Amino acid sequence: MKMMDKLRVLALIAAADILLIAGLWWTITQWYQPEGRETNGPAGQVLWAAGGDQGPVDGNGQGGARPAGSPADETDSGQRPGDGTKCVALTFDDGPQRECTTDLLDGLKARGTKVTFFLMGQNIPGNEDLVKRMYDEGHLIGNHSYRHIQLTKEGTDAVCDAMDKTGKMIQEITGEYPQYLRPPYGAWNDDLECRVDMTTVLWSVDSLDWKLQNRQKIVRRILKDVKDGDIILMHDIFPTSVEAALEIIDTLTRQGYTFVTVDELLID
Ligand code: NI
Repeated sequence: MKMMDKLRVLALIAAADILLIAGLWWTITQWYQPEGRETNGPAGQVLWAAGGDQGPVDGNGQGGARPAGSPADETDSGQRPGDGTKCVALTFDDGPQRECTTDLLDGLKARGTKVTFFLMGQNIPGNEDLVKRMYDEGHLIGNHSYRHIQLTKEGTDAVCDAMDKTGKMIQEITGEYPQYLRPPYGAWNDDLECRVDMTTVLWSVDSLDWKLQNRQKIVRRILKDVKDGDIILMHDIFPTSVEAALEIIDTLTRQGYTFVTVDELLID
């Protein structure tokens, strides 16, 4: 090889190295985007968070007392799906609802985002295809009882019947009996706990979407409070909730968040 050719080869190798290093640097800087409020590592695991659900016994959704029987605070190991990323779970109660749930599922599919739905038994008939779609598209399906009643005001038998009826309706469609339950209004007690063999999932951020019914206001409210490990309460029965949810996904994804289903937040 002539001297000039050798120099050319060396120049090419040097150029390739520079490109490789630049690529690595870009990847690293993308990975460690120092955005959001969570700069001190993952927050504590959130499963049991008191607050209000849609309706008259609405709480403030800002944490507060944990329900009786809930586990004590744990020190988080930081081991979550996507290791090193911030995780958040979007949850949708009170559906399915034909228009809103369909729009939401379309938006989630386009973004490759998985969420958790807590279904109300009385809304399932006629919407079986939506339940099937949730399941097929990788979302987690939980139980929100049959009707939107305050379970603590009902007899234990009635509550268990309503839960079981809804659970069986879901199982009929998906083949799986739901393992997670969210009681309407977050109203739950120890007595019900021992009768129902499901994990109760409340929330740590209340979007108040049912009250605000305004995309921007809902988005602002969630972004103000959200942090790693949060479970966000929403309802897929209002168009503004769906619009807000999709915007939240886009915004938090840019801030380095990963969206997971609630069961993934529980894996420690
Ligand atoms: Ni509800």
